[in-house]
Amino acid sequence: MKVLVVGGGGREHAICWKLCQSPKIAQLYCAPGNGGIAGLAQCVPIQATDVEGMVQWAKENAMDFVMVAPDDPLALGMVDALEAAGIRAFGPRKNAAVIEASKAFSKELMRKHNIPTAKYETFTELDKALAYLDTQGAPIVVKADGLALGKGVVVAQTLEEAKTAVRDMMEAKKFGESGSTVVIEECMTGPEVTVLAFCDGEHLAVMPPSQDHKRAYDHNQGPNTGGMGAFAPSPNYTPEIAAVCMETIFRPTVKALKEEGRPFCGVIYFGLMLTPQGPRVVEYNARFGDPETQAVLSLLDSDLLEIFEACVNGTLDQVDIEWKDAAACCLVLASGGYPVNYQSGFPITGLEEAGKKAVVFHAGTKRLEDGSLVTAGGRVLGVTAVGDTLAQAVAASYEAAKPIQFDHMHYRTDIGRDGACACRNA
Ligand code: AMP
Ligand code: GLY
Repeated sequence: MKVLVVGGGGREHAICWKLCQSPKIAQLYCAPGNGGIAGLAQCVPIQATDVEGMVQWAKENAMDFVMVAPDDPLALGMVDALEAAGIRAFGPRKNAAVIEASKAFSKELMRKHNIPTAKYETFTELDKALAYLDTQGAPIVVKADGLALGKGVVVAQTLEEAKTAVRDMMEAKKFGESGSTVVIEECMTGPEVTVLAFCDGEHLAVMPPSQDHKRAYDHNQGPNTGGMGAFAPSPNYTPEIAAVCMETIFRPTVKALKEEGRPFCGVIYFGLMLTPQGPRVVEYNARFGDPETQAVLSLLDSDLLEIFEACVNGTLDQVDIEWKDAAACCLVLASGGYPVNYQSGFPITGLEEAGKKAVVFHAGTKRLEDGSLVTAGGRVLGVTAVGDTLAQAVAASYEAAKPIQFDHMHYRTDIGRDGACACRNA
């Protein structure tokens, strides 16, 4: 089969790496890809958000299957457009991807279908939002409705901070139209867990639970990032909690979407908080998470393409998905200054040595014409190792990362370690 993966980060590198192991793949393409993906797939210089360009290229080049990984093209309806052109595509249609693209929609869905989540209200008028804050007090959480590169959430410790966040979003339009509507919700406490699930519109198959590390610096300090590392499985997610999540969150969500005429085919990302009152949804995403995917797919033994095809065919209940009885850790090596201010274009060395001990997924890298590799983004590499235990996987990824060098390299030293599993906001 000729298969195209849309996207170009660490997550897409992990997806391409796993797809390459499928005997069904004759040729693999990735648009736009990156310096690491170029070693596995033919990179096509089309931006992930260019729906028309992507569909046209897929048609002209007779793709048998397209996997759309990032949130933006899903929200723009790339899967709908591919299907309309007669191309089989993996990922939710626009009307289901809205569970990530609109927090107001997803909160309403949860309220309507009794899916446990933080208490909330939605606002389109500044005055009403500010007045509501006065009735609630702090701590409180303010969220821009739309996609904001993971930055549209403020967990405010004081009322003043919450009001500033609301003004930034609604008045100063800090996130553009994404902030015209805001969701204000109760602040929950507890460890966070990510559960990714394959879904065919009706059935779902959950992957090993994972955790990411959103803050830039050790001990969860500093600004929020796209994720500084991840590990799986999460020790916080016990079999008892898993059973509760299946009954009260996962199945009801898939059923709700189907009932609403928005069957979800693709990967649902359940961002959960294990609160003292039980597991609750923090957010839904309509895709694989990044960097969780690097850790999670490292544990997959089955053929990923077969799973994708089963999702599209509605036959997910007929495939046996096998996972390693092991742990994985993805350590992100980032550009100094990320996520605020950073420079790119620095040569990267030591990858060959590192690759002997771990799989090094590329996020922001570029291969120059002379074959050398340079940094080309905030998150640069995801050094991913598997071990019998979480401690072994963590130690192996740090060990493997040792020879890697580029100017101003920054990474956290506590990925998958003690403090990383501590309660947020407690
Ligand atoms: P989100 O983009 O919705 O995942 O939010 C980003 C981060 O903000 C989450 O991973 C949580 O750490 C935090 N957060 C979001 N909503 C809440 C909430 N209701 N209570 C406490 N923390 C939250
Ligand atoms: N790791 C968080 C996300 O992918 O949204």
